[in-house]
Amino acid sequence: MKPPSGQGIRLAYLLLSLASLCLPIPLWKDRDSLMQEEKAQQTGGNLVLSRQEQQLSTKLLNLKKKEVETAISTGQFPPSMHFFRAKSLIDQSKVFSILKRMPKGAVLHLHDFAMLSVGWLVFNASYLPHCYICFTPTGSVRFRFSRPRPPRPPPALCSPWLLLDTYRGQLRDVAEFDRGLLRNLTLVTDAPELAYPSQAFIWKRFEEIFLIASGLICYAPVFKAYFYQGLLELYEDNIQYVEIRAILPAVYELDGTKHNKSWSVATYREVTRRFVKEHPDFVGAKIIFTAHRMLNVSQIKEAVVTAMALRARFPDTLAGFDLVGDEDEGHSLWDLKDALTIPYSMGVNLPYFFHAGETDWQGTSVDNNVLDALLLNTSRIGHGLALIKHPVAKNLSLKRDIPVEVCPISNQVLLLVADLRSHPAADLMAEGHPIVISPDDPPIFGAKGVSYDFYEVFMAIGGMNADLRTLKQLALNSIKYSAMLPDEKAKAKELWQKKWDQFVADLSDSFLREL
Ligand SMILES: *[C@@H]1O[C@H](CO)[C@@H](O)[C@H](O)[C@H]1NC(C)=O
Ligand SMILES: *[C@@H]1O[C@H](CO)[C@@H](O)[C@H](O)[C@H]1NC(C)=O
Ligand SMILES: *[C@@H]1O[C@H](CO)[C@@H](O)[C@H](O)[C@H]1NC(C)=O
Ligand SMILES: *[C@@H]1O[C@H](CO)[C@@H](O)[C@H](O)[C@H]1NC(C)=O
Ligand SMILES: *[C@@H]1O[C@H](CO)[C@@H](O)[C@H](O)[C@H]1NC(C)=O
Ligand SMILES: *[C@@H]1O[C@H](CO)[C@@H](O)[C@H](O)[C@H]1NC(C)=O
Ligand SMILES: [Zn+2]
Repeated sequence: MKPPSGQGIRLAYLLLSLASLCLPIPLWKDRDSLMQEEKAQQTGGNLVLSRQEQQLSTKLLNLKKKEVETAISTGQFPPSMHFFRAKSLIDQSKVFSILKRMPKGAVLHLHDFAMLSVGWLVFNASYLPHCYICFTPTGSVRFRFSRPRPPRPPPALCSPWLLLDTYRGQLRDVAEFDRGLLRNLTLVTDAPELAYPSQAFIWKRFEEIFLIASGLICYAPVFKAYFYQGLLELYEDNIQYVEIRAILPAVYELDGTKHNKSWSVATYREVTRRFVKEHPDFVGAKIIFTAHRMLNVSQIKEAVVTAMALRARFPDTLAGFDLVGDEDEGHSLWDLKDALTIPYSMGVNLPYFFHAGETDWQGTSVDNNVLDALLLNTSRIGHGLALIKHPVAKNLSLKRDIPVEVCPISNQVLLLVADLRSHPAADLMAEGHPIVISPDDPPIFGAKGVSYDFYEVFMAIGGMNADLRTLKQLALNSIKYSAMLPDEKAKAKELWQKKWDQFVADLSDSFLREL
């Protein structure tokens, strides 16, 4: 076709500009106000910032934009990459270093044996006297402290128990051996796609890690030290309070004596009190007793009865009950309803904090867990990836002000979502659905505290518009939706606010110095 002549083009432009003069285009008249409306809905959209916060927010947003521009030019945007590969990039991020300094309030979804970097377990716990090791045929290990030798036989298919001290003494390369132990205790690997071909596969390895770690952590002196050091690691990540999902397995002494669940809760309480005494700017910790969702109805009934007894005995420490384990493989809440309605039918208040909707399988019995969790009066929804596929359940959770505990890195590593820009929480954040950010099992993913998860949320899930208001709202949410009592919340809020004001002042200063 012949291109239009210069004259033809000029004529067309003339007609177009005449048209825009004569006809107003109503299409755009609401554009600004509609965009404002959307912005007001997003997480933190209604917070009013101080002038200083506002200025800081703008600087933070600019910093984010710069890092995103760099990512686009290098083709490496950490939230779109697997965390195992992204971590070293995140560690270099300026935004990340700010998020580390930020007081983040409470961490509400974290598991008992996945609080503390595994280096401590290997370089500290496994070097304590009387530590035995055995090797499984699949190339992993088990631990046990004992004096005298641990009783025979060792756990199924494991080699005979070897005293670790003696064993290390015979090795040529102890450092290599210890690096192997570190690998036993995390999922971290260079090629996760090859190492973990399916969710069922990675869950098996994930649960084995808890088994391996439990041999060390369930030894009473380690149990106490692990929890103390775990609190310290959270404290150093600028977290002020924590709720731990705890399975409360038997903790043992050197002579094989086993303690019961009351002992474990009492110990958690005692260690927390000591920690708070030594760190008055930390508020405390509560325990959510958990049972494995593979257990059958009668076993869950027993667990629920135990949970009620523990809560009666430790009302300040034991916050409630939850179920753990691979949701796709385990029983649905509906399967377990006869056990889970016991407190209700007895008129006993046992708060629930259910993991629910940690699945990609829409329309399965497990996919109904989000609705059933809400019907069972859950106080929060763990993960809740399925929630956005269930508009009625989502409405219910909004109406009852039930937050979703969003754990982005966990979801990515456990193969539920690859690129974190597409995390379902992006929808929840866009419409201001109540959420809190949590790390789930940071050491197992090679993370630490909750800062890495905040980074993923700030850079990707919350989108380019997520700013200081978003971050402040998330910190406020974490206190609001915790199981703390009203006076405990007030105290936590006050302490957090002081730290927040200091953070804002310090950061404003450091931005000024850089100019
Ligand atoms: C191990 O424990 C000792 C004594 O509690 C402590 O001084 C040391 O820093 C710990 N090491 C690590 C790696 O945590
Ligand atoms: C577990 O640790 C042992 C000892 O270092 C090592 O030989 C083995 O490869 C490790 N297993 C895994 C899965 O990393
Ligand atoms: C644990 O043992 C103590 C006595 O040592 C007992 O009072 C308590 O009821 C037991 N707790 C549980 C959960 O069995
Ligand atoms: C539940 O599991 C336990 C332990 O495996 C078993 O003894 C019991 O018979 C099971 N109960 C039911 C109702 O299946
Ligand atoms: C749900 O929780 C509320 C407030 O804690 C309580 O009053 C109500 O009885 C609970 N309902 C059920 C079914 O547990
Ligand atoms: C959700 O709630 C809103 C307002 O209460 C209502 O207009 C809407 O129809 C509800 N949606 C669903 C799917 O229930
Ligand atoms: Zn969890």
